[in-house]
Amino acid sequence: MPSKDELKKALFSYSTNYNTSLEDENKMLKETVGQLRLELDKFREPALLVAEVIELSGKNAIIKLPNGNNFFVNVSSSIKKLKSGDSILVEQKNLTVVDKIATNKKFNVEQFVIMEKPTISWKDIGGLDEQIEEIKEVIELPLKKPELFKKVGITPPKGILLHGPPGTGKTLLAKAVAASTNSTFIEIVGSELVQKFIGEGAKLVKEVFTLAKEKAPSIIFIDEIDALASNRIDVGTSGEREVQRTFMQFLAELDGFKPLGNVKVIGCTNRKDILDPAVIRPGRLDRLVEVPNPGLEGIKQIFKIHTKRMEVDKKINVDKLFKSMEDFSGAEIKAVCTEAGYFAIRADRTKISEVDFKKAIEKVKNEEDAYGKDYIKMYG
Ligand SMILES: Nc1ncnc2c1ncn2[C@@H]1O[C@H](COP(=O)(O)OP(=O)(O)OP(=O)(O)O)[C@@H](O)[C@H]1O
Ligand SMILES: [Mg+2]
Repeated sequence: MPSKDELKKALFSYSTNYNTSLEDENKMLKETVGQLRLELDKFREPALLVAEVIELSGKNAIIKLPNGNNFFVNVSSSIKKLKSGDSILVEQKNLTVVDKIATNKKFNVEQFVIMEKPTISWKDIGGLDEQIEEIKEVIELPLKKPELFKKVGITPPKGILLHGPPGTGKTLLAKAVAASTNSTFIEIVGSELVQKFIGEGAKLVKEVFTLAKEKAPSIIFIDEIDALASNRIDVGTSGEREVQRTFMQFLAELDGFKPLGNVKVIGCTNRKDILDPAVIRPGRLDRLVEVPNPGLEGIKQIFKIHTKRMEVDKKINVDKLFKSMEDFSGAEIKAVCTEAGYFAIRADRTKISEVDFKKAIEKVKNEEDAYGKDYIKMYG
């Protein structure tokens, strides 16, 4: 049996130990709260912009934002040894330079391009049988069976140029061939290349081709290639020289890769008339494939594809409907199907009637008159 004194001592030591451990815990929790507060504050701050130093003058600098605009701004005194060409972080509000970032960071092309593995099948494309055959021959076969070409001793084209009016299925064709060859689909848009990436266009083109080789087999899809390769450019202004540089880089990349490698290039344009002929010279995108509006037979097929999952009234006089869509593109036919579905929903029906389609055709025609062909793009 412990003595009274011993008991007292034990109790005292227990309570002091207990207190210190509680104090420790309290301290730790307070620290955690402090850290979490700091982190929360960080989330509340607006994001910083990445820009480039063009020129320094004392405590100020001329910087270039990614959209290509230059600004004369303040530089925070905490930043030392800033020089032109450095990548920097600037506040969104007043564009003060607040930090410098490592300049040797790799230019990350994946941020700037759309890269995907499409799942479009040839069956999703209507009225373009000839074009599909040609693309299969020129893109699919060399990717799938390069040894066949070696045996026969011919070199397939490195790429093709799809041309035709808007919404006729050009992008669809390019995606379908990427899907059928299980290729990575890398998309760049000509107009973006020359407007968004001023100063970076040529670099981006180079990186896109490197990326394509890394992710091979791959299809590089250049939409609106006319923005890059137009014969209307007369290299007068610096902006035009920049486009010219980007274009030259593109031609150099195109010339630099092997026709039997596993990268193919598909260019796309609505304006073949203004295209620089350098693009379609032998050894480049020398196979031209026209993708026209579908015509009656094509309309029938495209209509079938886009109404496949719709409940359409069997009594409809489809021939009359098709006739009234005679000059429509594939995208417009799709828009008609979607709109007809909406008319049915509005009338609380799930079956789509002839009147729904008629109203839809009117709507697509009217809106197009009002907003032009681009309006149709919102139907995707
Ligand atoms: N031949 C077609 N068969 C089936 N659907 C089509 C066809 N053409 C167009 N479409 C529909 O229209 C949409 C737009 O087509 P797509 O993007 O391929 O046109 P595009 O020729 O690339 O147009 P743009 O020149 O405006 O880029 C497709 O997603 C598809 O739903
Ligand atoms: Mg397209």
